[in-house]
Amino acid sequence: MTKHPAIGILVGSLQASGLTRKFGNAIQQLGGDRGRFTIIEIGDLPLYNPDREAETPPAWTAFRAAVAAQDGILFITPEYNRSVPAPLKNAIDVGSRPYGASVWAGKPAAILSQSPGALGGFGANHHLRQSLVFLDMPTLQQPEAYIGHSAALFDDKGALAEGSGKTFVDSFITAVAAWVKRFSPPVV
Ligand SMILES: Cc1cc2nc3c(=O)[nH]c(=O)nc-3n(C[C@H](O)[C@H](O)[C@H](O)COP(=O)(O)O)c2cc1C
Repeated sequence: MTKHPAIGILVGSLQASGLTRKFGNAIQQLGGDRGRFTIIEIGDLPLYNPDREAETPPAWTAFRAAVAAQDGILFITPEYNRSVPAPLKNAIDVGSRPYGASVWAGKPAAILSQSPGALGGFGANHHLRQSLVFLDMPTLQQPEAYIGHSAALFDDKGALAEGSGKTFVDSFITAVAAWVKRFSPPVV
């Protein structure tokens, strides 16, 4: 690890102009010298099918390498039917195989869920936590990040407007970077 941890962001919605990607973009911009935040794209990953490991799709190989290169992972997700969207679950499954070669194991993680509704994606956040337990990813507990009424937090240029939402996201970035550093070898 360099001085600043490399933190891969997985954006759980494929919608290019969606709120979830807006959070991803905002965190990249706000991160500053707290971490090197990079969005790892998941939209072109073929659906996971063990039969395909014999001739591994190049997109799977590139995705696994991109995740392996990170010091930690930040999942930013909306809620679909009280769970995570299928593309995010697919990315998790792709990274978890072949058996015994999961790129997730031991990698520190954090979750930010968001919804234009009131509940802030609580169901998605905790469904995702269930997978991260099995994947052996130590996951930031506090502060919890269930951001409700999220559409109201962005200005007409798609940036986080000044206010309590932006202040919370900023403090969350600090917590995520500190969490990832706890699991990384010291820089000498
Ligand atoms: C298939 C589908 C299921 C959804 N289910 C939920 C849900 O369970 N809870 C919720 O708060 N919002 C739900 N929504 C609304 C999403 O939270 C909302 O569309 C959100 O903006 C999606 O993120 P995005 O803007 O990044 O694409 C659902 C949307 C879709 C398309």
